[in-house]
Amino acid sequence: MITRREYLKRSSLAACGLALARTLPAEPGNSHIEGRDSLKARAHNRGLLAGCAVNAANLREDAFTKVLAAQYNLVVAENAMKFGPLRPTPDTFNFADADALVAFAQHHKMKIRGHNFVWHEQLPAWFAGTATKENAKKILTDHIHTVAGRYKGKIHSWDVVNEAINISDGRPDSLRKSSWLELIGPEYLELAYRTARQADPKAKLTYNEYGIEDQSESDSAKRAATLALLKRLKAANVPLDALGIQSHIKAGALQTFGNGLRELIAGAQSLGLEVYFTELDVNDDAIPDSAPAARDRIVADVYHDYLAIAFESTATKAVLTWGLTDAHTWLNGIKSHREKLPNRPQRPLPFDADYKPTPAFFAMRDAFDKAPHR
Ligand code: XIL
Repeated sequence: MITRREYLKRSSLAACGLALARTLPAEPGNSHIEGRDSLKARAHNRGLLAGCAVNAANLREDAFTKVLAAQYNLVVAENAMKFGPLRPTPDTFNFADADALVAFAQHHKMKIRGHNFVWHEQLPAWFAGTATKENAKKILTDHIHTVAGRYKGKIHSWDVVNEAINISDGRPDSLRKSSWLELIGPEYLELAYRTARQADPKAKLTYNEYGIEDQSESDSAKRAATLALLKRLKAANVPLDALGIQSHIKAGALQTFGNGLRELIAGAQSLGLEVYFTELDVNDDAIPDSAPAARDRIVADVYHDYLAIAFESTATKAVLTWGLTDAHTWLNGIKSHREKLPNRPQRPLPFDADYKPTPAFFAMRDAFDKAPHR
């Protein structure tokens, strides 16, 4: 015989159990992926931001904007804020796409990353014939003042300099022999960061780089060179707030992540920097099995294992995938990627081409759930 009190306690526990069962974490195929089950809600629970890269043209598609707004609280322009796309001629700016993304993000209360001011790629055709050692500093500072100034106060973080290290260029400081380096000298970095701070004092100023986190010799060397660069900049009191780790990673035994990634995050943290995972996608070319389900499983495991390490440190504040769905990934657009075997479209992102969540979605969400609070 149980007491009435005990009976009530047990039945309320049972009711609770039922309610719990209804809200258990969603599994692949489960439609409960919005609201508190969305990526952004689960990230937010842990003090993290979840985002993705967007091309402005896609903002005209309802299916795209619906998933984007439901899942993410951070966006970055995949191309629209780069030097080339913004600068059709030396004297004009084309802000249409960048403005459209900023307006969309503000309307949906999403944060915005700016990408980027200084890069060796996507410079406009006029640059080579117009920029000289005499005018390059002015071109750089005018550009930063105009662009950062336009979006002042609206940007969470700016990738001020992108991919400045290239060890194979053979310089003792490991800097890439980019047009900016050749025209201005190594002080282009300091100039860019100081100008950006002046133009938008609230944006977190980021250094963004790739190929610095795995265990290989080349990544280890580039990691050391990157941390050494960040240390030099900090020692010179250059305004620098964060390291962006691009995270274009590969599935299928090509890369191993572990202490290299930990070392990188710890190195950035010891310099007082935040860490953002800025361009995550998982290249699946090296997976022998072509069946989508088999590839998706392996890609999802890479997401999970990589992010588990990424989130161990409270220095990590944000993760963004490079594109919303497999229909939008740059990995299927690059000629060199298309031409090599295997000849099959990649499936590198948390949504497939039909906007359905892939196993990578659930792996990423699970990694958010397991992340320590920050
Ligand atoms: C890529 C875009 O995804 C492509 O659409 C474009 O054609 C080339 O640039 N590292 C970066 C990004 O910092 O800006 C790059 O984006 C991908 C590699």
